[in-house]
This record gives sequence, structure tokens and C-alpha cells, in this order.
Amino acid sequence: QDDQFKKVVSHAKEYGYIFQSSEIYDGLSAVYDYAQNGVELKKNIRDYWWKAMVQMHENIVGIDAAILMHPTTWKASGHVDAFNDPLIDNKDSKKRYRADVLVEDYCAKIESKIEKEVKKAAKRFGDAFNKEEFLSTNGRVLGYQEKINSILSRLGKSLENEDLADVKALIEELEIADPMTGSKNWTEVKQFNLMFGTKLGASADTAMDLYLRPETAQGIFVNFLNVQKTGRMKIPFGIAQTGKAFRNEIVARQFIFRQREFEQMEMQFFVKPGTQQEWYEQWKENRMKWHLSLGMGEDNYRFHDHEKLAHYADAAADIEFKFPFGFKELEGIHSRTDFDLSQHEEFSGKKLQYFDHESKESYVPYVVETSIGLDRMFLAVFSNSLINETLEDGSERVVLRLPAVLAPTKAAVLPLIKRDGLPEIARKIVDDLKFDFNVIYDEKDAVGRRYRRQDAAGTPFCITVDHDTLEDNMVTIRHRDTMEQQRVKIEDVRGIINKEVDM
Ligand code: GAP
Repeated sequence: QDDQFKKVVSHAKEYGYIFQSSEIYDGLSAVYDYAQNGVELKKNIRDYWWKAMVQMHENIVGIDAAILMHPTTWKASGHVDAFNDPLIDNKDSKKRYRADVLVEDYCAKIESKIEKEVKKAAKRFGDAFNKEEFLSTNGRVLGYQEKINSILSRLGKSLENEDLADVKALIEELEIADPMTGSKNWTEVKQFNLMFGTKLGASADTAMDLYLRPETAQGIFVNFLNVQKTGRMKIPFGIAQTGKAFRNEIVARQFIFRQREFEQMEMQFFVKPGTQQEWYEQWKENRMKWHLSLGMGEDNYRFHDHEKLAHYADAAADIEFKFPFGFKELEGIHSRTDFDLSQHEEFSGKKLQYFDHESKESYVPYVVETSIGLDRMFLAVFSNSLINETLEDGSERVVLRLPAVLAPTKAAVLPLIKRDGLPEIARKIVDDLKFDFNVIYDEKDAVGRRYRRQDAAGTPFCITVDHDTLEDNMVTIRHRDTMEQQRVKIEDVRGIINKEVDM
């Protein structure tokens, strides 16, 4: 697992997807830059989401609110008082950790024992192996599961009740050690606010304390009535937004999974009070369908329904994805009640109510939100696509099987050799296709090496111009995943590619 993850990180750099931020100064931890291919993949994921959420829904519109907001926003939303992580220091190593993550990692280790048992049994029973049945009947597995459940449930309760002493007690009882040094000498657990502060204005005494937004959602809540009125929106309706969010994460690791500066794609769906449960179920289903539409394997997704709810929510679930380091949250679907709008009413003194023309009543709508991290989705797509294949002749092939709709470059056009008029034809094909999608021209190295380079970069099609092209106006299209080659007319190339890459 670790090995696969290391490959993902180094491949992302080698093929121009992701660089460490400010690398020449040895980087800034948990901050990353998207490189020439990364920016295209990220844009395509964002567009794929936007199309599914905004373009395909008559009753969902988009906005792009500012990152800086009036500071009272964050008092109203609860972020000033309650957007905290519980931190613990190791007295010997002086290293700081998130107390809840230490406990969760402990549970993940137990979970990997379960996986080992499953693998062993699958080998032993062969075709007769039934995973569901095994998980629900095997004594050892049930024991592990029970232990995980009881630890996580105690952790959840202690955090909810702000009983930080019990979180420390749990760490001590489980004998959790500093992952770097093995020391078990811990301090008390303390809460630490995750928002980044900044200042507006030049002079020290008049400057106003601001925060960089820790979620995009509040920009939607404060604009709820503006959009509803100017867009003449009728409930139920949604407002979608993509944009940067900032959190001063203490446990910065797992590459772009948990960053300090990241991008969210959120949609707040405003509904009539009492109908939120239905909409919550609907959006859970809808969002899972969106994920599955990318064809990255049904087994790689699962729902995790929250038992412990945040103070503002009446139901919440995560869509988890199987990252190289295990199943982790990719997207959240939350039924947020009227908490946010009511808080903003109270703090701003302005009404944020919807007038229902049919029933002639006014009310503060309830909200069901879908919230996905764009960078996390990027990591899901990228890590799932990176495959090391052994071919029939025994040779190895590294291929990045990105879904074609998301691939940064859709096709590479390759003249077989650098003379005899082949480059000119290849250039003409590039010039012709570039109006529709990203294509590149590549004439360096033997064609086999160029194919491999494009496989590893994630390009779904290679188009080769050879001497026969001069006679028959046909080219060879090579498909990345199957390596199949097809002889087609130049004028048919666009249609063939479009069929695969069109959102
Ligand atoms: N408005 C709801 C909200 O912000 P959240 O669960 O805190 O909910 C939503 O965040 C999503 O944002 C997560 O599911 C995750 O994909 C992404 N996310 C959160 N923190 C992140 C971080 N530090 N780095 C990258 N993505 C993050």
C-alpha cells in the first residue's frame, strides 16, 4: 500500500501533474501546485461536476462568492467557536498530533487485520468464498470489528461532550505511541481553531480581523435570498459553487488528501421544512451515481452514515473511496436543517425567508448539502488510474488509465518518422483537432517509446501518421487501455475521439 502510494506521488511529479509548492525553498508542507497536466485534469473534474450539478438541473444555479467574507459570518456559522481540532503533544519528541487521528489510525491498523483475514479465507475457500457471510460470521473478524466500533464510539462521544481528558485517557489505555519515535509520554489534549486569520486595512488600530474561508458553503448561505429573488427560484432549488477553502490542518500528510489550501465543490439545496429527509436520500443516491458514472469500480466506494452528528445536522453521510491508504472520506452529504440561515438571520438582523406563493406562507428553508473536495477527487481518480501492467511478452507497462472524459490531453499525433512529409500531415491533424480538444504533437524517439510515454501521461489516444497515409489518407488510432490499433480515415478521427471524451 505504501509502495503504491509512493508511486502515485512520484508519478504525479514526473508527468507534470503535481509539484510541491515553493519547491526551490524546500516546499511548504501540505501545500501543492498543480502542474501543466494537473491543471487540465483538475479543470475537467470541475467541469464534469458543474455539468452534472448545474447544467443538467434546471433548478440549480451557480455562483462564485469571494474568499474573504465579513467576519461576523464565521461567528454566525459557529466556526469561530467550534471549528477546532483536538491536538496532543508528545512530551519527548515535542511533535504535535491530532488526537482523534491517532485513535483513528489505531483503528485502521485493526481494520487491516480484518482485510488480511479476508484475503486468507478467500484463498482457502476459493470460489465458495462469500465475503459478506465471512464478515458477519467469523469470530475473529467480529471481535476486531467490535473493538473498532467501541473505540470510535467512545472517541465520538468524548469529542462531542468536549471531554478532552477522556480522549487522552483513551490514547493512554490503547497505549498509542508517537508514530515517529514510539514514545507514549503525552500532554493534555487541547482544542485548536483551524481558520487562517488575516487583516483588512493598513493601519494597525483600524485594521479588521478577517478569516480565509474554511468552506465555500457560507458564501452561498449569505447570498441565498439574492439568488432566490434575482433568479426567481422556487423551492426546492440549489446553489452550486466551486472554489478555494483554507484550513490550518495540523496533521498534514497523505499528499493532496489533506491540504491547507484546497478546493471544494459544494451545492446547497434549499427545501421545505419536513421534506429534508427525502431530499437527503435523493442526493445521496444522485451523488453516488455521479461517482459510478466515471467507471472507477463500484467496489471502491461505500457510504459511511454518521451516527454522531454535528450540532447543525439531522443526518449526514460520507461517500468514502478506497484510496491507496484505505477507505477515506471523499464527499459529504449533510442535512443541515435551517441552522445556517437562522444563524445568519440572527447575527445580521435581516430576514432570510422564502415566501411560498402557493401556500402564502414564509419560512426559513432547510438545507441539504453535497460537498466534495476537488483535490481529493483528483487523488481518487489519479491513484485509481495508475497501473503497472505485465504484458504478454513479459515486459512492464506503466499506464495512467484516466477516464477519457477527464484526461488532460485527449490525443497525441505522431509522425512515424521526421521526414517524407509525415510531420506536415501530423501538424495539420493537430491544427484541425485543437479546436475541439487538447491534442499534442510528438516526434521525438521511436514510436514505441512515444506510445509508452503517452500511456504513462494518461493520453487515451495516439494517432500515427505513416507512409501509407500519403497514399490512402488514413492513420492508425491506438487505444491506451487495450493497446488496440485501428486504421481509420483522417476525417473520421474527430468523431471517434469525441465519442469517448465528450462530457
Ligand atoms: N460545507 C461542508 C464542509 O465543508 P467538510 O466535510 O468539512 O464539509 C467537505 O468538507 C469536503 O471537503 C470533504 O469531504 C473533503 O473532500 C474536502 N476537504 C475537507 N478538508 C480538506 C483538506 N484539508 N484538504 C483537502 N480536502 C478537504
